[in-house]
Amino acid sequence: NGKIKIAIDGPAAAGKSTIAKRIAEKLGYTYIDTGAMYRALAYKALRYNIDTTNGEELERLLKETDIILSPTSDGQAVIVDGQDVSEEIRSAEVTANVSAVALHMGVRQLMVDKQRQLADGMGVVMDGRDIGTAVLPNAELKIFMTASVEERAIRRHLENEKRGIATDLERLKAEISERDRMDSEREISPLMQAEDAILLDTTALSIEEVVDRIRELAEKRL
Ligand code: C5P
Repeated sequence: NGKIKIAIDGPAAAGKSTIAKRIAEKLGYTYIDTGAMYRALAYKALRYNIDTTNGEELERLLKETDIILSPTSDGQAVIVDGQDVSEEIRSAEVTANVSAVALHMGVRQLMVDKQRQLADGMGVVMDGRDIGTAVLPNAELKIFMTASVEERAIRRHLENEKRGIATDLERLKAEISERDRMDSEREISPLMQAEDAILLDTTALSIEEVVDRIRELAEKRL
């Protein structure tokens, strides 16, 4: 149907969602933020005091949780059980717990099923950690987006400042590195570049440069 699937994976705070959103907009595709889905579950687990090491409990919780990614003018809103939690899922507490929630096999299987359903038959730009390797192994275009941890921490710092949140740069760096470590070392579909993914180091690139490069790659595959 002339529509392709674009998978964008990479470490934390590499700019994946900013870029994915813009590409989706330009191509008229659906943007799917899979990290938001894991964050939504982590948020609910924290609210219900569920032990993040208890995979079975988390799986049960996920089965009775309604997660909707709803497109808005500037990206997407995350609706959990009818409540807009777009802001809440970005909190430091959720960020600190999400990798522990995301490592469980049962949780990942349910999430991957849902993500495939969302992408079925559509042009999509999906970002995450395991999209090219596990969720959409047949995606026509796979990007593995990286940047130095210093650059990623600075970008997140500036983003937080804009949102009126004060953060310490060194702490951000430590938090980002720890999340990458957990995501890379987990047993089930760890953060990894797919064999057929194109590596894009964005450390010295602007948002526009990254968007243009991916658009060029996408157009060759349409
Ligand atoms: O992309 P974002 O930083 O919001 O993702 C939050 C966390 O969700 C990641 O650090 C990772 O633990 C988990 N995640 C995942 N697989 C994905 C997307 C996110 O395990 N496809």
